[in-house]
Amino acid sequence: MTPAPALRRIRPVLVTGGAGFIGANLAQRLARDGEHVLVLDSLARPGVEANVDWLKAVHATRISFVKADIRDFQTCADAVADATAIFHFAAQVAVTTALNAPLEDFAVNAAGTLGLLEAVRIRAPQTPLVFASTNKVYGALSDLPLTLADGAYAPRDLDIARFGIGEARALDFHTPYGCSKGTADQYVLDYARTFGLKAAVMRMSCIYGPRQMGTEDQGWVAHFLRRIASGEAVTLFGDGHQVRDVLYVEDAVDAYLAARARIDQVTGRAFNLGGGPSNAVTLRHVIAHAEQVLGRQARLELQPWRTGDQRYYVSDTRTVRAALGLPAPLDWREGVARLAQWIGEAGHQPPTDKALIAQPMEA
Ligand SMILES: NC(=O)c1ccc[n+]([C@@H]2O[C@H](COP(=O)([O-])OP(=O)(O)OC[C@H]3O[C@@H](n4cnc5c(N)ncnc54)[C@H](O)[C@@H]3O)[C@@H](O)[C@H]2O)c1
Repeated sequence: MTPAPALRRIRPVLVTGGAGFIGANLAQRLARDGEHVLVLDSLARPGVEANVDWLKAVHATRISFVKADIRDFQTCADAVADATAIFHFAAQVAVTTALNAPLEDFAVNAAGTLGLLEAVRIRAPQTPLVFASTNKVYGALSDLPLTLADGAYAPRDLDIARFGIGEARALDFHTPYGCSKGTADQYVLDYARTFGLKAAVMRMSCIYGPRQMGTEDQGWVAHFLRRIASGEAVTLFGDGHQVRDVLYVEDAVDAYLAARARIDQVTGRAFNLGGGPSNAVTLRHVIAHAEQVLGRQARLELQPWRTGDQRYYVSDTRTVRAALGLPAPLDWREGVARLAQWIGEAGHQPPTDKALIAQPMEA
């Protein structure tokens, strides 16, 4: 009698923070393309359980979910051991939470990432890992001479004005949040260098798009659109002329997948990932376009500048695009229109958790 063929064991891709905005979009793409995904998330962020429900509804057989904290070493180690690749998004993303509770912030962002790296080193040293870092590792850029012309801040340095901020920029961690994410960023790079892990870092600008549970201080593009759509006032901190290079989430997902595919070439490297100069917009540009798309006028309320708010940040994306073979990103006007469409669909209300709304957060 011939033995029954052994069942092929299906190994998943691990997405930490996969219930969150970017993680859920990546998980959906992986599942859509036929891969199995293990989402590991503590659901610390209010509202993100809706993303898990959505993932399970759309890809019932390809999405598994484990509710776990990134600080739970054993659970993370078991998840890592089985994974074909790891995308690490789980994070405490609130600047003010970090200011109020620096130890907790450090434990999640810095120690949590170090624990994950240890798990990879011990249990799966050949498994690729891509980490979500932030442009905040470059600090407030307050040394950058700027002009305010035509309603937008612009660097006086002509190269930076043309191309944006490159990876050679000196690191300059600000606030406990900047320190904890920056520490994690450096540990990832060092584990690639010292222990030979296959790991790369994405220092991201403002990512926006569907599934973003944006609030006043994080996910501002989604937040502005919701406010305008519902007739509520939009609060502008500062003058609204600050410049950000916004990147549509599907383009960010492309970059993460390309980094995994090319991990042998990009291991040990950090990349600035944003919309680049062609998607550099002021907050007021986005509001004006949203007014057109939504057919409603925005009510603006001005508030003083927030501490550490960059007047200008635009990524120089030449390196990441060349290294990962990325196409030109989606034009921000089209991306904002797509986001408006998603927001217009029923049931996409932002979380109303007051504690979250009150906190300045990433991006
Ligand atoms: N969205 C952006 O524009 C942007 C910009 C720069 C960097 N980032 C980084 O990208 C990553 C994803 O950001 P996002 O916008 O999707 O945020 P998000 O808040 O939507 O996702 C983060 C997820 O991590 C989970 N989480 C929080 N603490 C956890 C813990 N202790 N254990 C396990 N899970 C935990 C949350 O529940 C959430 O689902 C974060 O690391 C963030 O710092 C985001």
